[in-house]
Amino acid sequence: MDYILRPWRNSDLDCLVKHANNYNIAKWLTNQFPYPYTYDSGKGFLTMVTKDNPIKVFAIEIEGEAAGSIGIFPQTDIHEKSAEIGYWLSEKYWRNGIMSSAVRDIVKYGFDTFDIVRIYAKPFSSNERSQRVLEKAGFALEARLKKALYKNGEFMDELIYVRFKE
Ligand SMILES: CC(C)(COP(=O)(O)OP(=O)(O)OC[C@H]1O[C@@H](n2cnc3c(N)ncnc32)[C@H](O)[C@@H]1OP(=O)(O)O)[C@@H](O)C(=O)NCCC(=O)NCCS
Repeated sequence: MDYILRPWRNSDLDCLVKHANNYNIAKWLTNQFPYPYTYDSGKGFLTMVTKDNPIKVFAIEIEGEAAGSIGIFPQTDIHEKSAEIGYWLSEKYWRNGIMSSAVRDIVKYGFDTFDIVRIYAKPFSSNERSQRVLEKAGFALEARLKKALYKNGEFMDELIYVRFKE
């Protein structure tokens, strides 16, 4: 299935709320991605991500709608040569190989754009879909941080997946 990565626009608000307002997405993310996902949440997100130059967060456009998001976040201080990635996709489009491909795209963009050598992601240990996405995009499991997460009244392990600049 075809998709494009492009900058978020304020006019994406309706599509953003439509696709993001889903507990099956929110349950795998930090609490910065709320459920329910309201218009106010969407406005706050768009204000934040449309400011960056160079761009850090891209909309995943499918069938003319912003239906997902993928971002790369260079770190600071002694971690300045590393960047974290994060992503979600509308449940309507899961299992089409879109995110595995989008992660490869953001890795290329990240190494081309920022002065970094290491890109990592931190899926919950129970998020097997996301781990599969990362493996397909050339990431390797580096660490398991036991009980590092506490979400919805439950402790979970956090995994670190990494890809280095060649
Ligand atoms: C994780 C997510 C981004 C995957 O997007 P996607 O476009 O469906 O991913 P892909 O189609 O590229 O790949 C999914 C892989 O997971 C596999 N998979 C699907 N459901 C699975 C499950 N329940 N358990 C294990 N693997 C599963 C698929 O088979 C596929 O692998 P394959 O191509 O080898 O068959 C999407 O499900 C999502 O937005 N989830 C909620 C938010 C989230 O978890 N974000 C990541 C936080 S680290």
